[in-house]
Amino acid sequence: MFIANWKMNGSQSMLVRWLEGVNKTLDKSLQTKCILCPPVCFLSEASKVIKKEKLSISLGAQNIDPSNISPLTGGIDGAMLKELGAEYVVIGHSERRKVFKEENQLLSEKLESASKEDLRVIFCIGESLKEKEEGKTISVLKKQLEILNDAELNNFTVAYEPVWAIGSGETAKLDDIEDIHRQIVDEVRSFKKESFLGVFYGGSVDSSSSRQILSLKGVQGLLIGGASLECEEFCNIVLTNNQN
Ligand code: 13P
Repeated sequence: MFIANWKMNGSQSMLVRWLEGVNKTLDKSLQTKCILCPPVCFLSEASKVIKKEKLSISLGAQNIDPSNISPLTGGIDGAMLKELGAEYVVIGHSERRKVFKEENQLLSEKLESASKEDLRVIFCIGESLKEKEEGKTISVLKKQLEILNDAELNNFTVAYEPVWAIGSGETAKLDDIEDIHRQIVDEVRSFKKESFLGVFYGGSVDSSSSRQILSLKGVQGLLIGGASLECEEFCNIVLTNNQN
């Protein structure tokens, strides 16, 4: 799977051009492997274009609010995201963990909000540079994964995104990615969640690095930030990974 996380970028006209480009470049079977997560304000337009042009790409939201906190000015819950056409939702992205201090308690409530509406969760985890240098990567990841144990989830994936690799142009070493993915898989499997679909990698992935990363054991997909904004680059990543 290839997830385009636009973060706080784009515009309505860019969205329309991007979707048209994807439709021209990727055949339907490749489109089914793609999930676009635009800013929430563009989800409705994206959904309209997808229906009108009969695209096979899916939509996801970059965030969700807990549905058990009410009233909540500015809040957007799972039911609202669903109405806008989202099937997936990203929860626990490091940018939100850092800026909005999103921690396990709040993230558990977000998981619940998603699960109530059958949204498929892409649960992000990752260690900071300091944590990596102190040899704490695995313990940090396990702590972040802990809340999945109690969550009732529909099909979900975990996205491993080392914080220091995001937007830095630096990807983790291939051996490290493979080893860490294996440990994440083992940990989540120990929770006995049948709805666990695997682990994705994210952090400065582009068309030159994607093939090697996706060929690693345990890497089921890519979560792509900056390189997903350009339609051509995003499509190149998808196409490169479908050559023999
Ligand atoms: P970049 O691909 O821009 O490093 O972003 C990765 C990411 O955070 C995707 O969620």
